[in-house]
Amino acid sequence: MTNNTRENFSSKLGAVLAAAGSAVGLGNIWRFPIETGQNGGAAFIIIYIACVFLLGIPIMMSEFFIGRHTHTNTAGAYRKLAPNTQWKWVGRLGVLSGFVILSYYSVVAGWTAEYTRLAICNAFDGKNATDFPSIFNTFVSNPWKSVSWMFAFMIVTHIIVIRGVKGGIEKFSKIMMPALFVILIVLAVCSVMLPGASKGLEFMLKPDFSKITASAWLSAMGQAFFSLSLGLGCLCTYGSYFRSDTNIGKTALNVAIIDTFVAIMSGFIIFPAVFNAGYAISSNDIGPSLLFITMPNVFQQAFGSLPLLSYAVSVLFYFLLVVAALTSTISMHEVVTAYVSEEFAMSRRKAAAIVTITCSAVGLLCALSFGPFSEFKLLGMTIFDFFDYVSSNLMLPIGGMFISLFAGWYLDKRLLRDEITNHGTLRVPYLRMVIFILRYLAPIAIAIILLNQLGLFHRG
Ligand code: PHE
Repeated sequence: MTNNTRENFSSKLGAVLAAAGSAVGLGNIWRFPIETGQNGGAAFIIIYIACVFLLGIPIMMSEFFIGRHTHTNTAGAYRKLAPNTQWKWVGRLGVLSGFVILSYYSVVAGWTAEYTRLAICNAFDGKNATDFPSIFNTFVSNPWKSVSWMFAFMIVTHIIVIRGVKGGIEKFSKIMMPALFVILIVLAVCSVMLPGASKGLEFMLKPDFSKITASAWLSAMGQAFFSLSLGLGCLCTYGSYFRSDTNIGKTALNVAIIDTFVAIMSGFIIFPAVFNAGYAISSNDIGPSLLFITMPNVFQQAFGSLPLLSYAVSVLFYFLLVVAALTSTISMHEVVTAYVSEEFAMSRRKAAAIVTITCSAVGLLCALSFGPFSEFKLLGMTIFDFFDYVSSNLMLPIGGMFISLFAGWYLDKRLLRDEITNHGTLRVPYLRMVIFILRYLAPIAIAIILLNQLGLFHRG
């Protein structure tokens, strides 16, 4: 193992931005508006925020301190803290989840790259609502195009990861995260100024609690996990690069605030524009095709009378997605690369190459499941849907539940206290609450999500 040559993030800001880079991704800009649209708007946003702050932050703190205390990859971390026990499987499950999510996430990330290219070539100009579904379907079912973009995305991720923690991940996040905030704000201002935007704002700001069903609570918790990158050891691996003076509670709070801010800003971009274009919320237009079928049409309709503005908004929007997806794919790649390199004692370069090649091979199957392999089904799902379902709906919640049980029950309370207070140098008034959540609230709440995903409750 290569502990003495291990890199750290060079600054506290770098650590926050890298972790926020992992959290902010397609989950915020694509999945959050879909979930909000399907679950009733403002009231859903309120319970989502409650889940982020009540469940997400304590589990994120646990991942961070498990990583920082052990200074190793996520599988090694559990082995070190609980030698000769089965807890090592929590870390191994995390590595496997990172591998699986990276394989199919890179396919969608590739789509965002193709849409950036289309936007730059002004391919949406003059098109209308009937053209966009066929543009999207022709693209995803064309094996060469979507596979090439998936590979391209994987290779860019690879290049950043092999540059290391400071020179690659931290540097990229420090440049790209602020750029992402600027683009988000510019787009939100454009969208909010559209005629008819007030309906979209009302949808996001005026809660109607009668819309909150049991299934909305469950969706809010699931979304919080996915969006904060929790449950697979991404943040544990990043925690292992934290310096010993990093304030774990504050870092988790900052990451959660940034992630939530980006999700809400995405809502401010998407809902006013969608209402302006006359789409009905909760219809098919708010499904998975939102970003690739509904949004290009929304940009044409909303800004069509000002072609330059519609061009600029489309290019910025898809570029924003590429950047957000890339900082997330980097973090998934890093989980697996750190594991392979440290557990099998090989150089980062060699480990990263193995990860890139194997993940691309699996990604290839996911990409082809929209075209030539669309008939091949696992439990009635295409390969892509199966991976998406198993990883986000099962592996992440199971990982999160075991992380909270491990931190809340298995670990010595003194270790937890020392890590969160940096050996008594920080005052952490909320420590008891964090311990209570890790012991009781989080495992129970997650168990409920899991039972729901397995279909044991009827959706409300
Ligand atoms: N949080 C990322 C997003 O919002 C997705 C992700 C999940 C990244 C799990 C890493 C690990 O898109």
